[in-house]
Amino acid sequence: MDTLVIKGGKRLKGTVEIGGAKNAALPIMAAALLAPGEHRIGNVPHLRDISTMGRLLANLGAGFHLESNTALLDCSKVKNYAAPYELVSTMRASVLVLGPLLARLGKAKVSLPGGCAIGARPINLHLMGFEKMGASITLESGYIFVKAKKLRGAQINFDIPTVTGTENIMMAAALAEGKTVIENAAREPEVVDLADALKSMGARIIGAGESVIEIDGVSRLRPLRHEVIPDRIETGTFMAAAGITGGEVTIKRCNLQHLDSVINKLKDTGMKIRPLKTGVKVTGPKRPASVNAKTMPYPGFPTDMQAQLMAMMCVAEGTSVISESIFENRFMHVAELRRMGADIIIEGGMATVRGVRKLKGAPLMATDLRASASLIVAALAAEGESTIHRIYHLDRGYERIEEKLRKLGADVRRGKE
Ligand code: EPU
Repeated sequence: MDTLVIKGGKRLKGTVEIGGAKNAALPIMAAALLAPGEHRIGNVPHLRDISTMGRLLANLGAGFHLESNTALLDCSKVKNYAAPYELVSTMRASVLVLGPLLARLGKAKVSLPGGCAIGARPINLHLMGFEKMGASITLESGYIFVKAKKLRGAQINFDIPTVTGTENIMMAAALAEGKTVIENAAREPEVVDLADALKSMGARIIGAGESVIEIDGVSRLRPLRHEVIPDRIETGTFMAAAGITGGEVTIKRCNLQHLDSVINKLKDTGMKIRPLKTGVKVTGPKRPASVNAKTMPYPGFPTDMQAQLMAMMCVAEGTSVISESIFENRFMHVAELRRMGADIIIEGGMATVRGVRKLKGAPLMATDLRASASLIVAALAAEGESTIHRIYHLDRGYERIEEKLRKLGADVRRGKE
């Protein structure tokens, strides 16, 4: 198994380019199932989750090929309607095939995703939505079986704004009979990107990016042509890495409009963030100032940036309180950060971080994707060497991260257990 070995203490300097957003590319790939023909999706990052989705689509009968950063998908012969346990268990986003399969084939079967490291993460809201659209739902040997002769438009009100839930319903509704209205929809940029991709297929959607989305079903869709938006979480992670090392980094191919809450928070830590014509220049302070943060659905501070901000706060001047309100178990990086000398106390969904002057390198265990990112951020600023184990979590969501960090002057190499 690969490890990442980081010698901390180098100020990051230089230019980095951001890849396409994993969490936009995944639903857009699933959306290809909605229409026969050859689909073309640009700016798709080379990540393990993307190849897992590719394998899943191939398993369902689609042709999948990633050429440079363009995904070519041939969905002329989609016949299979079951997403097997082996794939769903390695990637929860596999549930995104439910909506499109149900709309195209009238049935879909997906292994019920178990809990995962960051929380229980049920899909009851996705299923409630399908049911409202006329689908029947049964549980068979650990598989959710969703079936509908004809999907009808419906009024769907989510108790909690769910990102993949909103995406699943939007995809199913694109081919349903009549109008679907999603209330309390997720407003994340990835939802908007999926809506744009669906519109390129001929779907009729208004309101994506707002709390109410209306989808007027059409009888058929054409193959999609779309460029995936830049990854806002990768952008934010590089900002945090620059911030904690007192670095000066130009970030290219990013979209700052998707990062308002993150930028405002990082500015409060003393970072300078200056938009450029083609990206942004970020400069870290000598030592970050402490800030408080609470994760919220978009446009609030993203849960996917909570761990990276916490890494910064470990060496900040003062005490910061970080609350996690989206997932119930997303503090697994805390135990690892403590092993580096961080002073963090957790009470329920709240972490109190008392900044220390320096973290010390240590052997570390990655537990999930964003926790791994936070360990990298911390290790870049720590005194001495850190070895991060189980970095396969990282490879799910960050494209060539060690190469990008090395280009910025970090002392990072991939090792073996
Ligand atoms: N929820 C329910 N029932 C549902 C669906 C969600 O109770 O049917 C709850 C969840 O348990 C959670 C909250 O609603 O407490 C929000 O979860 P959401 O459904 O929005 O999360 P998701 O769609 O499963 C996506 C991203 C995550 C990101 C979250 C929140 C993808 C593929 N995944 O997950 O990304 O953290 O939205 O923004 O888009 C990551 O990239 O590291 C990652 C975990």
